[in-house]
Amino acid sequence: SSNRSIEKERTLAIIKPDGLFGNHSDRIKQVILDSHFNIAKETVVQLDEESAATFYAEHSSKSFFASLINYMTSGPVLVMVLEKENAVADWRHLIGPTDAREAKITDPQSIRAMCGLDLQKNCVHGSDSNKSAEREIAFFFKETSSDEAVANHDEL
Ligand code: PPS
Repeated sequence: SSNRSIEKERTLAIIKPDGLFGNHSDRIKQVILDSHFNIAKETVVQLDEESAATFYAEHSSKSFFASLINYMTSGPVLVMVLEKENAVADWRHLIGPTDAREAKITDPQSIRAMCGLDLQKNCVHGSDSNKSAEREIAFFFKETSSDEAVANHDEL
């Protein structure tokens, strides 16, 4: 029987449009599994402008906001709930610096170095805290026993 006394931490990972379009998801998933994460849930969605703006609401005053929303709605994204001890920090470590150009120099083994391009096309997202992870997971997945994606995005 499984040991339910150890609660694994959860984080939200997104393979962004450039990651999916560039066919990087199999390689990224291999890195995820090799790093001992469990992929608890996954879904492919096409975000609309409203849901992308809600997801990134904390950045709404930033100069890059419109560009970010345009980019994140430019094609489907693959959303995953990743589980392991220390999942939030470990996933952030694995993906590397936000700017993929910087990642290629300072963290060449990172996922963003492997498949990102720049600050916007940086291939993947990771929750920046446990609090963000909770919000972001609830945003994409109903908190029920099923893995159904919520209705405000078109599941592909
Ligand atoms: S900030 O200002 O420090 O809060 O921004 P940061 O955490 O580095 O990035 C937040 C998300 O915004 C994206 N981003 C950008 N998109 C387009 N253009 C520019 N210049 C830009 N700068 C940052 C960045 O990829 C982050 O996306 P997520 O999905 O959160 O990783």
